[in-house]
Amino acid sequence: MNSEPEAGKILSGMRPTGRLHLGHYHGVLKNWVRLQERSQCFFFVADWHALTTHYDDPSEMGTHVWDMLVDWLAAGVDPERATLFIQSRVPQHAELHLLLSMVTPLGWLLRVPSFKDQQQKLKERDLATYGFLGYPLLQSADILMYRATGVPVGEDQVPHVELTREIARRFNHIFGRDVAFEEKAGEAVKGLGKKLAKQFSQARGRWQQEGDQEAHDQALAVIQQSVNISAEDKERLIGFLDGGGREILPEPAALLTPAAKMPGLDGQKMSKSYNNTIQMRDDPDRVSSRLMSMPTDPARQRRTDPGDPERCPVWELHKIYTASDTRETLAAGCKSAGIGCVDCKKPLLEKILEEQAELQDRARPFEQNPARVREVIESGCERAREVAEETLNEVRLAVGTKY
Ligand code: TRP
Ligand code: SF4
Repeated sequence: MNSEPEAGKILSGMRPTGRLHLGHYHGVLKNWVRLQERSQCFFFVADWHALTTHYDDPSEMGTHVWDMLVDWLAAGVDPERATLFIQSRVPQHAELHLLLSMVTPLGWLLRVPSFKDQQQKLKERDLATYGFLGYPLLQSADILMYRATGVPVGEDQVPHVELTREIARRFNHIFGRDVAFEEKAGEAVKGLGKKLAKQFSQARGRWQQEGDQEAHDQALAVIQQSVNISAEDKERLIGFLDGGGREILPEPAALLTPAAKMPGLDGQKMSKSYNNTIQMRDDPDRVSSRLMSMPTDPARQRRTDPGDPERCPVWELHKIYTASDTRETLAAGCKSAGIGCVDCKKPLLEKILEEQAELQDRARPFEQNPARVREVIESGCERAREVAEETLNEVRLAVGTKY
């Protein structure tokens, strides 16, 4: 699953949840920033995906979209390197979703684990909807639209990338041998010249009808030896000979993002729903006071009680923020009760506030001038629409709606 090289095209999306926290930053966004250095990246706000579950609560959507985008920019996601866009501003996604739906067996969608899981988890919502059932297919459209080779996702999203691969395979199988392809292949056969064309067609016939391997090799030799046809036609004829479809939509690979080990301010996993987050752009006083009251190793009731860093949620933050030599000193101090928890938390707080300052610095120009965010995103959307339109043109041709 992870073996695919990262150099290809990368696509990932995030639902607009509003302001992001440090779990998102260390878990997802830093990975995006790394990927944008070496690959062509598309990162988008999945606002339609949010509607599949939260269609009854659209009032906050706009705020959430822009807040989240500012956090992406604060993290260092660079609109000069990566294409940043909003799904609903590229309505081509809806057309591709629709066209893919024509060949998507209902069973494939019913079997996607999140369909039942989320219905269980979000009991208070009515998720027995067409939109929710189709949501993984919408995701497939997102991915296939940009011919992504790699899709950085968390564990829970891997089945959706797997579905995408199956959809691509099925689509190529059904439409990869469209009329236009057969016609072009026919032209290419003619291009071989009378004698070779006859040899090729007979050998192909024997191979396809009788599975005669010798005939296959013979036909292949005819293609390879021909000096009359272009390299593109040779490719086409090889596809024609093997009977497999042309690859209209390439199959993507999931690039598994390791689950963030970011603990929240209460020691549980950092999550908005636990109300235990440090936001990417937070108020320094709030961060200080909440970190200072964060629980530590329960064995350290008093300053004189020795502790064990491995039982302390604060330590998990140190693992992310603090250099290993400092950490060694602190661990020794904890175990011998040589230092108190306040002494231990101070250097950590400093690191976190340093990082906050960096994030705030990058965000500031966009916070001060929201029109700048809109400009950046508008040009990203434009670029996304261009790429999407190219893919869709091929897809329309393949499914027969371009005439
Ligand atoms: N479904 C993803 C989520 O809920 C978001 C998403 C939508 C996505 N389309 C995508 C992620 C395409 C990766 C690729 O988190
Ligand atoms: Fe945790 Fe540090 Fe206190 Fe040890 S000294 S319990 S590691 S906060």
